[in-house]
Amino acid sequence: MSVNPQSRRVLSGMRPTGALHLGNYYGALRNWVELQYQYECYFFVADWHALTTGYDDTSKLPQHIHEVLVDWLAAGLNPGVATLFVQSHVPEHAELHLLLSMITPLAWLERVPTYKDQQQQLKDKDLATYGFLGYPLLQSADILLYRPAYVPVGEDQVAHVEVTREIARRFNHLYGREPGFEEKAERAVKSLGGRNSQLYRQLRRRFQETGDTDALERARALVQSNNRITVADRERLLGYLEGTGVSILPEPQVLLTATPRMPGLDGRKMSKSYGNTIGLREDPDSVVQKLRTMQTDPARVRRTDPGDPEKCPVWELHKIFSDESTQQWASQGCRTAGIGCLECKKPVIDRIVDEVSGMRRRAQEFEENPELVRNIVAEGAEKAREAARETLDDVRRAMNLRTD
Ligand code: TRP
Ligand code: SF4
Repeated sequence: MSVNPQSRRVLSGMRPTGALHLGNYYGALRNWVELQYQYECYFFVADWHALTTGYDDTSKLPQHIHEVLVDWLAAGLNPGVATLFVQSHVPEHAELHLLLSMITPLAWLERVPTYKDQQQQLKDKDLATYGFLGYPLLQSADILLYRPAYVPVGEDQVAHVEVTREIARRFNHLYGREPGFEEKAERAVKSLGGRNSQLYRQLRRRFQETGDTDALERARALVQSNNRITVADRERLLGYLEGTGVSILPEPQVLLTATPRMPGLDGRKMSKSYGNTIGLREDPDSVVQKLRTMQTDPARVRRTDPGDPEKCPVWELHKIFSDESTQQWASQGCRTAGIGCLECKKPVIDRIVDEVSGMRRRAQEFEENPELVRNIVAEGAEKAREAARETLDDVRRAMNLRTD
């Protein structure tokens, strides 16, 4: 493991597959909205990633990018706090992807589980392309370019972050060592000053000999709180703790999004490919219509038949959207046939209509003035490029390439 000096940074991306649904919101977006107030967040629309599977028809791409951005803003992502941008507006992603491709063994990409899975699932597409194989590497470049501490993703993306870590490790191993590192690090230890130097040495030894992560944390804090040393020395001291040298591309960690399972209208997981979704900004009449006809416990044929909430997707919605007493009422009423299904659905319908209406209200100004959205991502790209250029400078220097 190597140290991440920019440990308050978070990065994540989303493919522009069109307007988001409630499953996307509860699965990821709502979490991002919270994270933006706790971390320095970079969120981007992964339009190049959309090309890896959708290269044959790109006509809807601009519309899909716009829809996702408006969804983000409607859901409460705040461009005053988080950096929001579009991947292709930051060409640095492509340069890092290229450089990393030189050191990435083919086998690492071939064994990423999504490679074979997706080829199986999307049989009608020819995915025997270079770009599709490189998908996880492009994602690695997306991530490493910003040197984030955390990457909030769902279960399905964990393998991609794992490859990212392996690639970072390989890069650091090949290029991450500064000539004369040990001597420079020793000199930096001395510059911490008497008591602190001694404490640093003790903690470092304890971590290296026994793997005591508590000692590691304390030593990091000691280094980070010292503002008399130079930035370069601080990085050396952080790297020296784990004996890895300065790491140019720190290994990010997954921040697994704990999400309720959002049932779709047919009871299967809500997913665009099943056509069972409720849009984040769907027209309220259509939401009501969809929910009124939504699947319930098939055993409740007549109003007088008691039901079992555990066999009913509406009950899963209650668990996400209703308070304790409403849940009690629904579960009790279902089991005793005290209430009908429509009656049971009513509070869920009201809540979802409320939620969707709020999204529509907040989206309105962006729908009416698309240039607002354009300005937000133009500014976001500028900020993102600043961070990206810093990393690329270090990467080019480490690889003995030209730096501007
Ligand atoms: N592959 C991700 C998905 O399909 C999207 C993505 C692209 C991403 N680059 C990323 C997510 C970087 C996190 C970090 O959902
Ligand atoms: Fe589902 Fe509610 Fe009908 Fe029971 S009463 S089957 S929980 S909709």
